[in-house]
Amino acid sequence: MLPQPDAARQPKHPTMIHAPDRPSENPATALSDGLTPSFADRLIHWQKQHGRHNLPWHSRDPYRVWLSEIMLQQTQVATVAGYYPRFLAAFPTVSALAAAAEDDVLALWQGLGYYSRARNLHKAAKQIMADFGGQFPTERAELEKLCGVGRSTAAAVAAFTFHKRETILDGNVKRVLCRVFAQDGDPQNKKFEHTLWTLAESLLPPQNANMPAYTQGLMDLGATVCKRSNPACPACPMSDICQAKAQGRTAELPRKKTAAEVKTLPLYWLIWHDENGALLLEKRPAKGIWGGLYCTPCFDSLQDLHDFAARHGLTAEDLTELPPLTHRLTHRMLLITPFAVAGKRLSENLSDGLRVMPEKLADYGLPKPLAAWLAEKQPALF
Ligand code: ADE
Repeated sequence: MLPQPDAARQPKHPTMIHAPDRPSENPATALSDGLTPSFADRLIHWQKQHGRHNLPWHSRDPYRVWLSEIMLQQTQVATVAGYYPRFLAAFPTVSALAAAAEDDVLALWQGLGYYSRARNLHKAAKQIMADFGGQFPTERAELEKLCGVGRSTAAAVAAFTFHKRETILDGNVKRVLCRVFAQDGDPQNKKFEHTLWTLAESLLPPQNANMPAYTQGLMDLGATVCKRSNPACPACPMSDICQAKAQGRTAELPRKKTAAEVKTLPLYWLIWHDENGALLLEKRPAKGIWGGLYCTPCFDSLQDLHDFAARHGLTAEDLTELPPLTHRLTHRMLLITPFAVAGKRLSENLSDGLRVMPEKLADYGLPKPLAAWLAEKQPALF
């Protein structure tokens, strides 16, 4: 069931969903058997009354909106609200961000996770300076050329700052659409995803000026009312047209993703403090876990850790095995065993290693579990 293309689906009265004379293939126009405010009108009205207002990133500055959208991709509003002002204070403009050192960008991102977002953000800032004359493009398709910017993020920037009629479609919005229009499909299926994009496009309000309230309304409704569990249906502006509610299928839709298997990955950290109490850190390769961050030497096998230790003049007796810790990534469970060395001089041939005193660690972007572990354990280690 694909929604109709743009021209065919325009209701005669722009603010009403017109009851079709005959059954419609379009879920957006098959909402009711009478005249009822459109999905967009309901949402805009509701957002103005009950939505979230005065979020720090509500702005027409594309840099501010883009930064917030990247931070909010996998992170809660409350967490982003802490990081966002600090990041903006350090890098107030896209040119300041482009001119920054990657390490400084990563250090300010520390703790937000998904560090490829920060590396892409930095690359995208450079793209804007080099390819777009320092100005954000205004079209969604052009915004999508920026590193780390997918269709939904590009649409959010275009809608919030340039009032473009472009739709977002993140997980929250998919949930709203699957329920209101009883869309029953496998969320991992590309064809179904395409159906949702087409449906979302067909629902856009006709007036450009309404795009910020509409877009924020989609986000707010999914986050605060049409929640995954215990949705607040009585407070929902769509409750009388919600097909999942009418069919008693709110808990069933959207269909759950098949859970990806979570593999356990063993890792071994060498926590080496030298005779002055400085800790050995290495910059991680750009690709892979904690790419670009600073970490203690980290190995996939115990053998690799011992080989490294031997190459740098340590014997097995110099190494103290400490209790392991676990850390969950999206698709992996890390099982990390730290090995401590204290008071041994660090050999000179650690060419890419850094010695950092504990009080200076905050200047470096460290993986979250390492920063937390050091904060708790480091004082007892040397
Ligand atoms: N999630 C993604 N974008 C958002 C925004 N602009 N406001 C609140 N939550 C969001």
